[in-house]
Amino acid sequence: MANVTFSSPVMSKDVTVYAVAGDRGTLLAVAKAHKIPIPFDCQDGECGSCLVEVQHLSRNKYAIALTEKEKELLKQLGKITKAEVTDAEVNDMPPHYRLACQYFVRNEEILVTFEGDQTLP
Ligand code: FES
Repeated sequence: MANVTFSSPVMSKDVTVYAVAGDRGTLLAVAKAHKIPIPFDCQDGECGSCLVEVQHLSRNKYAIALTEKEKELLKQLGKITKAEVTDAEVNDMPPHYRLACQYFVRNEEILVTFEGDQTLP
């Protein structure tokens, strides 16, 4: 089971959700299913609206799957270095920043933080 905690200045408190297999999908899909206000637009790794910071709290180590689109956009946004890409692909070291629409939630415990739209309640 995935254990995902969302934290943001636009939320009154942190929210932890448990996503069972089949109920998972992308981090953005999990957030939307639980009414977590992660901003998004394209949902296709092209706009960068869904940028989040991900901290891995569990010890499960998975191969890090960064799509080409995600790598390119994170580079453009200055949120990932070449060294971090190599570390992710070669050593399974998760980068700090991800795109929620490109991140597939697995059986892991993560803390997801995002800025969000300050105009939301
Ligand atoms: Fe556009 Fe994720 S919603 S990059």
